[in-house]
Amino acid sequence: MSEPVDRVLTTTRAARRRLDLGRPVPRELLLECLEVALQAPTGSNRQGWQFVLVSDPDRKRAVAEHYRRSWYAYAARPRPAYPEGDPRGARMDRVVRSARYLADHMAEAPWLVIPCLEGRLAAGASTAEQASFWGSILPAFWSFMLAARARGLGTAWTTLHLVYERDVAEILGIPYDRYTQAGLSPVAYLRGEPGAALRIPASQVAHWEKW
Ligand SMILES: Cc1cc2nc3c(=O)[nH]c(=O)nc-3n(C[C@H](O)[C@H](O)[C@H](O)COP(=O)(O)O)c2cc1C
Repeated sequence: MSEPVDRVLTTTRAARRRLDLGRPVPRELLLECLEVALQAPTGSNRQGWQFVLVSDPDRKRAVAEHYRRSWYAYAARPRPAYPEGDPRGARMDRVVRSARYLADHMAEAPWLVIPCLEGRLAAGASTAEQASFWGSILPAFWSFMLAARARGLGTAWTTLHLVYERDVAEILGIPYDRYTQAGLSPVAYLRGEPGAALRIPASQVAHWEKW
């Protein structure tokens, strides 16, 4: 393993219970992470991204309340079923408990970060259009999380507030007609040292030469 890059890549977990909610995170550290994130690729190098970083308690509460409502509605739906022995099934209860914790505590994170991309996909957008659109913001979001991890910070990729994207845009003054929100992550110092997760092995997902 090429240290320390692979270590960061393999231990950037969805941090929920490990978030140190009581410890402030300086703005400068977030800017550093953002500088790293902005090295990510975008289609035609458009860089149509904007990032909203929120620490104001009232705004965080308002955003988190939408996230929470959406999470509880999602959690009430049937869960995906995995075959016996599949590591995803074995972890499911733990993931749900951890996700519920985040749903209940999102507002307490020192910062909430929302990546946005200029434009909006038309209904019925082709696969190529979707890939180009999301591919121009999600790598930067992930890079932000990796840069955060490298600095002792924890993050968690979430999408459920997007059910209420327009309401959250209003709370934060995001111009909904011109910018699409791509996710939401809490940012806080990490407690403890996460390790690599059990994933499906590469041999089961690689198709050499032909599917
Ligand atoms: C597209 C996407 C959407 C996600 N949405 C949520 C979410 O709304 N809430 C949440 O708690 N976690 C969310 N997650 C985090 C996943 O649950 C997490 O990445 C997965 O369980 C693996 O976690 P690990 O890396 O800690 O093993 C999302 C992840 C991705 C990539």
